[in-house]
Amino acid sequence: MCGIIGYIGEIHAGDGGAASDRAADAPGSVGEIVHRGLKNLEYRGYDSAGVALAGPTSGLTVAKRSGEVDALSVPDVPDATLGVGHTRWSTHGPPTDANAHPHTDCAGDVAVVHNGIVENYEALKAELSDHEFTSDTDTEVIPHLIEEALAADDGDDDLLAAVHRVEDRLEGSYAICAVREGDDRIVVARRGSPIVLGRGEDASFVASDVTAFLEHTRDVTYLEDGDVAALSPDGVEIFADGEPVERTIETVTWEADAAEKGGYEHYMRKEIHEQPSALRQTLAGRLDVDGGDVDLDVSFPPGFLADLEEIRIVACGTSYYAGRYAAQLFEELAGVRATVEIASEYEFGAGRTPDRTLVVAVTQSGETADTLGAIRRANAAGARTFAVTNTLGSTVTREVDGTAFIRAGPEIGVAATKTFASQVATLAMLAVAVGRDRGALSAADARSVLKDLQGLPGAVQQVLDEENQVREAAREYQDSEAFFFVGRALGVPVALEGALKLKEISYDHAEGFAAGELKHGPLALVTPDTPVLAVLTEGARADETMNNVTEAQTRGAPALGCVSAGEEYDTLDVSFDVPDVGIVEPLAANVYLQLFAYHVANEKGRAIDKPRNLAKSVTVE
Ligand code: G6P
Repeated sequence: MCGIIGYIGEIHAGDGGAASDRAADAPGSVGEIVHRGLKNLEYRGYDSAGVALAGPTSGLTVAKRSGEVDALSVPDVPDATLGVGHTRWSTHGPPTDANAHPHTDCAGDVAVVHNGIVENYEALKAELSDHEFTSDTDTEVIPHLIEEALAADDGDDDLLAAVHRVEDRLEGSYAICAVREGDDRIVVARRGSPIVLGRGEDASFVASDVTAFLEHTRDVTYLEDGDVAALSPDGVEIFADGEPVERTIETVTWEADAAEKGGYEHYMRKEIHEQPSALRQTLAGRLDVDGGDVDLDVSFPPGFLADLEEIRIVACGTSYYAGRYAAQLFEELAGVRATVEIASEYEFGAGRTPDRTLVVAVTQSGETADTLGAIRRANAAGARTFAVTNTLGSTVTREVDGTAFIRAGPEIGVAATKTFASQVATLAMLAVAVGRDRGALSAADARSVLKDLQGLPGAVQQVLDEENQVREAAREYQDSEAFFFVGRALGVPVALEGALKLKEISYDHAEGFAAGELKHGPLALVTPDTPVLAVLTEGARADETMNNVTEAQTRGAPALGCVSAGEEYDTLDVSFDVPDVGIVEPLAANVYLQLFAYHVANEKGRAIDKPRNLAKSVTVE
């Protein structure tokens, strides 16, 4: 996830920003407008920043560097009338100066900023072997493809026509802005990544979200997938399949603060709702469903996986519960013993064989001190180490032998939500890869798991569509004395995570248990004032779990269940339908528990994005 911004208009340095009445309070040059837009988009990533500015006599000027937007010194281009900018959240290539956007063609005449992933970039790069590449990014193929299209014999030497042609070559997701020396337009294309156009009086804007230009205009047009648009100061032309189309102009009524959160009151709710797109990004280009295999771009020494004796997962908090889910998948799909340890408790231990052990750190931030400590102890013992993280260039990636990125996009809310889903999805792919390599998983069984994964984003969306039902349940039970979450098998980590979410943000007492353990102690706490929330899906031994729920109901506890679609447990007080997605069904159920926690906390007016006493990344042991 990156942020992009573009502006084209009549504002020049010293004009005082009088491009339109709406812009009257927003003085500055094109560079300043773009820079302010980038600041507003920094929540989308801050690994590097860059701009390309152009004016009638000054040509195209590009400046970029690693680090946050404030570290970038925007060049002074006095006659600039257009500019594009980018703030990066790295997916391909570490956060270096060279990998910062904009990327340019060989001559430096075309500059492009991009949000998304070009999945076929390696093939395209091979095709462009006579072009000079200066970065490790997938994006850089785009300006070079535009360069080719501009020079093609059967082409038009026109930026808009060139972008049309290049669009057909790109697989994956993108929102791009392209500019060319001597061309007074910004050309925009969209497929799968967000982009919105802003319509001022003598100026046009484009950005990943409206926050970037809300101070200038509230009149916006959302592009549809496949649209290409040409922006000039006078307005916007939009094309679909090469033909001009009209798209509605809408007026944004949010205030800037809400817009930054995409209209949501809290980042956490926004991030809960981002899960379908985050999961799509996690899975993009990695599933070979027909072939029953995955491409995670990770490699192990020959024979290492075949001889593997044990996978030991180390993690904290939500990542620890993702590890608990994954350990079951490794045992079932990869036929290898898998254990999960709280990172701060981890020691390599006697009686284990380092050269036949893979220690996997699961960490959203890649910076958690407890997890780094565990990895250092594993390295010292001589084990092979691996990281599953959201953060390119993070410390953990430098300390392990291999890394898989979960690509969930920045998560701002302290309580982890979308990264949990993306972590488990990534670990599930790793389990399939290891299982296939070891010959423990047949192609047919792998196909079935991959189909489940492929269905997960849609299933999560169906759960999100039921938010009103969850809100009502949260209102009804919010004043309870305590909450107990139960499940079996894959339902256990989800129950534990459900309880963690609720306690983190509502400050209510909540505990998760393996359902069978209720009767061995916790049942003493059960009263009519302690609702039990149960995971009753596939992969979670639903009928047996329901028996334990009934034991709690007999003691008066209300019961809420996340139930596989098509199944019914009549005695439940509230039943949430979970779409059928096989081995990842408990993950879809987890989204109900996230929403429940959110709405209980919201009813109580808690500081949801920054709960008391907690931090997003804990860098002390
Ligand atoms: C902190 C956060 C948790 C997070 C945990 C592990 O405690 O508050 O939300 O799950 O750290 O973080 P990591 O970045 O290693 O996944």
